[in-house]
Amino acid sequence: MFFNILALVSLLAVSAYGQGTSFVYNGFTLGKLSLDGMAWVTHDGLLRLTNDSRMEKGHAFHPDQVQFKNSPNGSVFSFSTTFVFAIRAQYPTLSGHGIVFVVAPRRGLPGSLPGQYLGIEFRDINDNHVGIDLNGLTSANSSPAGYYADGGEFKNLTLTSGKAMQVWVDYNGTEKRIDVTLAPINVQKPQTPLLSPTCDLASIINENMYVGFSSSTSSILDTDYVLGWSFMVNGTAQALALSRLPKLPQIGKKETSKVLTIGLPWVVLFIISMLISSAVYVMRRKRKFAEVLEDWERDYGPHRFNYKDLYIATKGFRNQELLGTGGFGQVYRGILPTSKIEIAVKRVSHESRQGMREFVAEILSIGRLRHRNIVSLFGYCRRKGELLLVYDYMPNGSLDKYLYKQPTVTLNWRQRFRVIKGVASGLLYLHEGWEQVVIHGDIKASNILLDADLNGRLGDFGLARLYDHGTDPQRTHAAGTLGYLAPEHVRTSKATRSTDVFAFGVFLLEVACGRRPIENRDVEGTILVDWVFSCWERGAILEARDPKLGAEFVEEEMELVLKLGLMCSHPEPLMRPTTRQVLHYLEGDIPTPELSSIGSRLTFDHHEGFDDLAMSPSSMDKAFQLSSVADSLLSGYMSHSLSC
Ligand SMILES: *[C@@H]1O[C@H](CO)[C@@H](O)[C@H](O)[C@H]1NC(C)=O
Ligand SMILES: *[C@@H]1O[C@H](CO)[C@@H](O)[C@H](O)[C@H]1NC(C)=O
Ligand SMILES: *[C@@H]1O[C@H](CO)[C@@H](O)[C@H](O)[C@H]1NC(C)=O
Ligand SMILES: *[C@@H]1O[C@H](CO)[C@@H](O)[C@H](O)[C@H]1NC(C)=O
Ligand SMILES: *[C@@H]1O[C@H](CO)[C@@H](O)[C@H](O)[C@H]1NC(C)=O
Repeated sequence: MFFNILALVSLLAVSAYGQGTSFVYNGFTLGKLSLDGMAWVTHDGLLRLTNDSRMEKGHAFHPDQVQFKNSPNGSVFSFSTTFVFAIRAQYPTLSGHGIVFVVAPRRGLPGSLPGQYLGIEFRDINDNHVGIDLNGLTSANSSPAGYYADGGEFKNLTLTSGKAMQVWVDYNGTEKRIDVTLAPINVQKPQTPLLSPTCDLASIINENMYVGFSSSTSSILDTDYVLGWSFMVNGTAQALALSRLPKLPQIGKKETSKVLTIGLPWVVLFIISMLISSAVYVMRRKRKFAEVLEDWERDYGPHRFNYKDLYIATKGFRNQELLGTGGFGQVYRGILPTSKIEIAVKRVSHESRQGMREFVAEILSIGRLRHRNIVSLFGYCRRKGELLLVYDYMPNGSLDKYLYKQPTVTLNWRQRFRVIKGVASGLLYLHEGWEQVVIHGDIKASNILLDADLNGRLGDFGLARLYDHGTDPQRTHAAGTLGYLAPEHVRTSKATRSTDVFAFGVFLLEVACGRRPIENRDVEGTILVDWVFSCWERGAILEARDPKLGAEFVEEEMELVLKLGLMCSHPEPLMRPTTRQVLHYLEGDIPTPELSSIGSRLTFDHHEGFDDLAMSPSSMDKAFQLSSVADSLLSGYMSHSLSC
């Protein structure tokens, strides 16, 4: 890589005379220079001598001839030129042919060949040098590219670095010496030229010559630029205004292409990994919110909830939203994202898909129940291994926590009695007031929820059974909660209105006494019904009342509730009142029942009933039932059945 001063003797007569002795180009304008081949002036004002075509040449000449002599045999005037150039090599380690400053008799160097003939001499000293060629292609004088710093130290330069460099060529017509100096663009012209041979140009330079640049490409591509050029005869070429020279786009361009060649694979890799991770995210999300939807469920469209909505509503089923954990799963509080309705979401795990259809059908039938003492079921959502039931949110929670968990009384008698009447009214609606008979199956204090006005509402229809009015309920597994199960329910596995009344009786005693139906305490009356009954036998039934109430209760109502509790939880189903009668008693439509007439029988049967349930298994049948009772006792609840 080099540049040459090359002068070719003209074979043609040169007639035109130069008109100017000096010119300066601080950047170029298209149309001012005489261009041929690949040479081009960019709109930024850069003279680009080569482009990406292989085996091409490019020339750029000052359009006018320059007079170098007074006469054909005269001596050559002094002249001086300086220019700024940059060479961007495609491969920094391989170089092309470089830029040649030419003094030639004709523009365009007719007949010149691309490749080495206009750039390379035949005896290159290396591929990074500066040479002077006199009327031939072999350098008369050359040096490795570089400059002598002011201290005299030689500094190498790489011509193909792509960085702009400045060249000065000064011919002293008196001394017949050519000084060639090279320096980086930001370095002042060095005192010591790189080349300084003495040679008389008189024999090879005609009177009038053209000056310009030539470059060529071979199979190795360079992009050669000239940024500015100044020339003068009989003087020192005017200094270039370096700050006004056009910017080299190719450095940015090359960096861009570096970004493209090196960066692009990374960008592509990055984009691909982004795509993969977002696909994984979408799939995970899809799996996270996956639901089970079968054809038969299309009919229940309006009752079907999106799992995603429930997930958002409950803030991802986080623990802070957990309202409670029951026999069937956890209940979470939530707010539906669009409607802002407060809901309670119950998660019921179910492994089996058998019977799910019937179960969902029943659940949704129950969902159609509307009564002020029944917790509304809005709908459901089904996932793999999981069923979610969406209920109306009851801000005051379940009744049991008011009865047991508080050290002081938080629900006074008036409120308790209202809850009792409300639940009775809800139960009557289930048993008689709707198109089908609904057996709740699990009446107990923890399934009674209190709304904002502390009204009792029957909730948790997880064990509910439906059957048509006038038909016999189907035999299913005995299910419910220990202590609330009627003896005949355990025996026959049939849930009936009467078994609901039994549980309701136990519930009445629970509310009145503030005690659980079965307590493991080692005190008198482990079984609540027994204990209340014994109080009644002693003629002191009011002693069974919740001591936390103190004197704050209505005696008649308390007595009614306790007695009604005993009646309802009578082991003999036929001795129990109907739901309608229960409500009549509570409303005072019927006078408080007289228990004495049935006293002894009540005692006897009552004990037998509870023995059946919890004390002494005497047959295989009972043993079987009790084993399931025992199982559920461990978790606190009877195992439930979805009739699967
Ligand atoms: C250069 O100077 C010489 C005398 O020194 C003069 O004859 C000649 O015309 C000058 N050339 C130009 C182009 O000015
Ligand atoms: C190079 O320049 C020549 C002449 O202007 C043009 O014909 C050719 O298409 C250019 N090649 C490229 C690769 O730009
Ligand atoms: C110029 O030099 C050539 C030979 O070098 C000579 O033949 C010719 O006569 C000379 N012309 C003048 C005008 O001196
Ligand atoms: C300069 O280049 C020459 C030839 O390529 C080399 O021998 C020399 O060591 C270089 N000097 C420096 C300072 O790099
Ligand atoms: C050429 O060299 C002579 C003698 O050293 C000097 O006087 C003259 O100024 C130089 N000319 C130019 C143009 O530098």
